[in-house]
Amino acid sequence: GDFAEGSATYFPEGRFYVVNASSNFFALSQVCPHLGCRVPFCESSGRFECPCHGSVFDIAGEYIKGPTPRGMDRFGLTLKNDALIVDTGVVDTGPNRGVHQYLTPPKGPSCAKES
Ligand code: FES
Repeated sequence: GDFAEGSATYFPEGRFYVVNASSNFFALSQVCPHLGCRVPFCESSGRFECPCHGSVFDIAGEYIKGPTPRGMDRFGLTLKNDALIVDTGVVDTGPNRGVHQYLTPPKGPSCAKES
């Protein structure tokens, strides 16, 4: 209940986000799979938008566009005694570019400046 549908909560001490994608929870690494920039969550679009080279990911970290070779990597996540436990020592490589299991239309405007 602490993580609303479509939300991304940042945990700087672990350098990850906990996201709620249609009641499926993921712990997403903040590190862009392209060249390693920190990927911020854009509240207005509801997507992750990398400021370095323009890669965009949906709420589950799935690839939408840009030069990144895949979606955002995911850390191990378990539910124990009503708490979500994230294990940053367990890394699942981000989904392939063609995976769009949780893709939804953007909530609103992108945070990226249009050129
Ligand atoms: Fe994120 Fe290049 S580091 S798009």
